[in-house]
Amino acid sequence: MALLAPSILAADFSNLSQQIRLVELAGADWIHCDIMDGHFVPNITFGPVLVNSVKRCTKLPIDVHLMIENPENYLESFIIAGANYITVHQETAIHLNRIIARIKELGAKAGIAINPSTPICFLKDIAEYVDLILIMSVNPGFGGQIFVPNSIKKIKETVKLRGNLSANFLIEVDGGIDNHNALSILEAGCDVFVAGTSIFNADNISAATTELRNLISPF
Ligand code: DX5
Ligand code: ZN
Repeated sequence: MALLAPSILAADFSNLSQQIRLVELAGADWIHCDIMDGHFVPNITFGPVLVNSVKRCTKLPIDVHLMIENPENYLESFIIAGANYITVHQETAIHLNRIIARIKELGAKAGIAINPSTPICFLKDIAEYVDLILIMSVNPGFGGQIFVPNSIKKIKETVKLRGNLSANFLIEVDGGIDNHNALSILEAGCDVFVAGTSIFNADNISAATTELRNLISPF
């Protein structure tokens, strides 16, 4: 069964707890938090303080996507803030094994994300140790971008890699997901769908959540 993780990047921050409640009631499975540092990506968002506020207004697992340099320096603060999943970018970390081990030691699930231009084969020697692989289907930094079509091929390659390794990590896809492309992403093998704009910028947030949720995991 595929999962839906609305990204609060596109939410109304002056009304965050209410918007989180809406997506939770409408069938969201996780809450996705995008952390950007203005270095690895050309945008700045928020840190552990806001993640902790999110944690306090939902029972759903908190999925923290770190688009920051030196992620190893911030693992503990995000986990203390309430992150259940912490995903770091392959492009930001030289000692990935050490980071993955540290996240697990601190009691969270560990993920690795890759940009659209980073090949799946770069994950071959780390994939068996992770709980999640996040395939970026846009260049990270902003919500509301167009889905990069070759992400479909990368999802399929990741499914193959998981089979070859007899591993059981989840495959998460993030960026430009909506009702029009969700089915082809599902067919390619996505387990966790991140969606920001198509949910929080919809006229009816609850209806948009339920519609996307039903599309990827019909009851
Ligand atoms: C992009 C972020 C995404 C983004 C998705 O850098 O990692 O999580 O918020 O937003 P949409 O669904 O608008 O592409
Ligand atoms: Zn994200």
